Amino acid sequence: MYVPFGGGQRACPGNDYARVSLSLIIHHLVMNYRWSMLVPDEPVVRSAFAYPAMNLPIKIFKKEAA
Ligand code: HEM
Repeated sequence: MYVPFGGGQRACPGNDYARVSLSLIIHHLVMNYRWSMLVPDEPVVRSAFAYPAMNLPIKIFKKEAA
């Protein structure tokens, strides 16, 4: 189960703020940077959740202004 902000009466009040902030940061990174995988053939570990064996190392480069 994935409940990052908890639940019930003591659930995180920063939930919506955190989600919007992170969306903005990800939007900025996707729009303004080029991403490439450092290990293109990185294996996937199959556990309760599938995840990249080396935690998906990446390089990011700032895109040149057009
Ligand atoms: C990715 C970001 C965040 C995560 C994953 C997160 C997660 C959590 C979790 C798991 C709890 C405990 C909930 C429970 O006991 O059921 C909590 C509580 C709390 N969080 Fe966050 N939180 C985040 C961001 C924020 C932000 C940005 C704020 C404020 C601006 C905030 C303010 C609080 C407060 C005040 C509590 C205590 C609530 C209470 O005990 O009544 N959190 N958070």
